[in-house]
Amino acid sequence: MSDERRPSARFFATAAKGTEPLLRDELQELGLRRVRADRGGVHFGGELADAYRACLWSRIALRVLEPLADFPCADEDALYEGVKRVDWTRVLDARRTLAVRAACRSSRLTHTQYIAQRSKDAVVDQLRERLGERPSVDRQDPDVQLFVHLVKDHATVYLDYSGDSLHAHGFRAQQGAAPIKETLASALVRYSGWDRESPLVDPMCGSGTLLLEAGLWAARRAPGLARPDFGFERWADFDDTARATISRLRVEARDAAQPLTLSLIGSDTDSRALEAARANAEQAGLRVNLRLAPLTSAAPSADRGGLVVNPPYGERLERSSSLGQELATVLRRFSAYQRGLIVPRHFDLPLRADRFLMVFNGAIECELRRYDASATP
Ligand SMILES: C[S@@+](CC[C@H](N)C(=O)[O-])C[C@H]1O[C@@H](n2cnc3c(N)ncnc32)[C@H](O)[C@@H]1O
Repeated sequence: MSDERRPSARFFATAAKGTEPLLRDELQELGLRRVRADRGGVHFGGELADAYRACLWSRIALRVLEPLADFPCADEDALYEGVKRVDWTRVLDARRTLAVRAACRSSRLTHTQYIAQRSKDAVVDQLRERLGERPSVDRQDPDVQLFVHLVKDHATVYLDYSGDSLHAHGFRAQQGAAPIKETLASALVRYSGWDRESPLVDPMCGSGTLLLEAGLWAARRAPGLARPDFGFERWADFDDTARATISRLRVEARDAAQPLTLSLIGSDTDSRALEAARANAEQAGLRVNLRLAPLTSAAPSADRGGLVVNPPYGERLERSSSLGQELATVLRRFSAYQRGLIVPRHFDLPLRADRFLMVFNGAIECELRRYDASATP
């Protein structure tokens, strides 16, 4: 639907818990307006083009949602009626498919599958009444995805602009044993305070996610360009104006990309992980400098740069008892660099960080830790 018809809307970009302030900064830099971090994501306002821009450019957001309705919701009837009041003909018709996801917290309705089911019934019933036909459900690859969120008996119904989650940035040809999600990798690179001009080092690089996220960011490559489409491109209201808008944004994004001139330097003790990193770099179209070497051999090659590390947590990958000491030694050696780590929350490391931020890596409570560059080791 064109912006002329809908001059202003509210959106909510979701993010891994804890990374909201980093997503806020990213969305502000994208020029989005009325940006405000909240639990689980970041609100922003604007026009459809702004939601499209967030889908195309955000490296940290998981999804971009538009809240369509919110209402008190103490029971299933309130849920059904509230969802049915939304005009679903805007995005759906009988030819399109639908899926509903739900989440709830501190509410009387507690069963997320049931919440999703009743919401789906309300949408389908409305369309059957209005159009005489109903859309079908497709949980794998729906045209329209809705998300119903209940908090303290209050429901918010969201339309999901992203389609598939935005966490995949298109370069994962192969995975290592415990790859970090691209979105969380981007959050760490941003948190480290690296300048995007100097070399970036990851001495436990695994399949290279941190290096490649950093490289794509420095090269101003929009992660969304790697995707065939976004959810909103499959809606009933995706008309010529909307098509022209996303086409223009894609052209602008292609024009914004720059060749990468800085070095991305990775090492790891697992040769298979390095193979995956090589394949991923090729897929991303980025040059990386990789070698088989232990963490302790890492040394700076420039007078400034960035160092990022995602060490093994001892869950999916074993970690040695000396890892904390070894990391502290390497962090000290790179003291002229901006440095960032993602470690489990109580990871013992005998070097105090300048800043830290609690985040979730899946279900694992973690911390991003930042060490600012200093002249003296
Ligand atoms: C959590 S994984 C890193 C995952 C990586 N960020 C990715 O996206 O694939 C930790 C990595 O540390 C490597 N590693 C473990 N001990 C090491 C050591 N002493 N020196 C260098 N690398 C090591 C493992 O082989 C593994 O690839």
